[in-house]
Amino acid sequence: MIKRHAWQTSESQVTPEDVYKQRRSFLKLGGAAAAGSILAPYGYAQSWRTDEDPAPFEAATTYNNFYEFGMDKTDPAKYAHEMSVDPWSVKIEGMVEKPGSYNLEDILKWGDQEERIYRLRCVEAWSMVIPWVGYPLASLLKQVKPLSKAKYVVFKTLADRKQMRGMRSRFSLIDWPYIEGLTIEEAANPLTLLTFGMYGQTLPNQNGAPVRLVIPWKYGFKSIKSIVSIEFTNRQPRTTWQQLQPKEYGFYANVNPEVSHPRWSQARERRLPGGIFGAERIDTQMFNGYGEQVAHLYKGLDLTKNY
Ligand code: MTE
Repeated sequence: MIKRHAWQTSESQVTPEDVYKQRRSFLKLGGAAAAGSILAPYGYAQSWRTDEDPAPFEAATTYNNFYEFGMDKTDPAKYAHEMSVDPWSVKIEGMVEKPGSYNLEDILKWGDQEERIYRLRCVEAWSMVIPWVGYPLASLLKQVKPLSKAKYVVFKTLADRKQMRGMRSRFSLIDWPYIEGLTIEEAANPLTLLTFGMYGQTLPNQNGAPVRLVIPWKYGFKSIKSIVSIEFTNRQPRTTWQQLQPKEYGFYANVNPEVSHPRWSQARERRLPGGIFGAERIDTQMFNGYGEQVAHLYKGLDLTKNY
């Protein structure tokens, strides 16, 4: 995993071996354009790929939501280093053939890591394009084998008041740990990425190290960070944002320009970072532009009620 030898360059010091090897193959093939050809065998080809420019690393790692470290967008970059991510293990629990506590090193081996350049659309009506590194959550499902009665997957973030100063704040309204959930079909969709890196490096702590989800067709709050538990169940969980404001945040949270947040429209978004004239305002796309891959999951479901 993370190899730190005195003789290594600073780049390889911060990069897990797998990601680093992969990065080198990207570099050989010439960057983002090449990522598509590596990924072509995946069948859904490159339709999820975007030609939009990724946000600079600096922007994606200094403007964050990670309430465990504070409410301000700059808090995670300031304080997430207080979280220790090595060693790390994830509990696989509930209706599954192979429950247990697994080390990150083992989990890293369960899939082939690839780069995915996705739009991340936050419910607050801003978005960024970010090159993530990870493998489809479907590969983890294949390893741990959910039972057929499992209909939902529930994810929990580390909750440690000693390491996470936002949890100690008296302004925090959240009932920790941060909880998210997906239907088993959403979890198995090839777009759902179990993510270990970004920009060809390991995830910085503020972006959810050492392992998070990225679900590009859903509002960003579904993309839960720093996961310590994955549970299989037959009951739809109540997620953190549903608990806080059930009228504003639903279980599905699919990006939908036609369903407004009660306090603002979701029809448009600010693409970050902006230039000197501020962020560009662009139209929000249904399912954040990934409808071809995911619309079938919601056939017959009233998306105005199931927001
Ligand atoms: N996960 C945890 N544990 N805590 C959080 O506060 N914020 C969510 C999501 N995952 C959050 C979280 C929200 S609202 C967004 S928009 C994305 O993380 C932001 O991810 P980024 O900071 O990597 O861009």
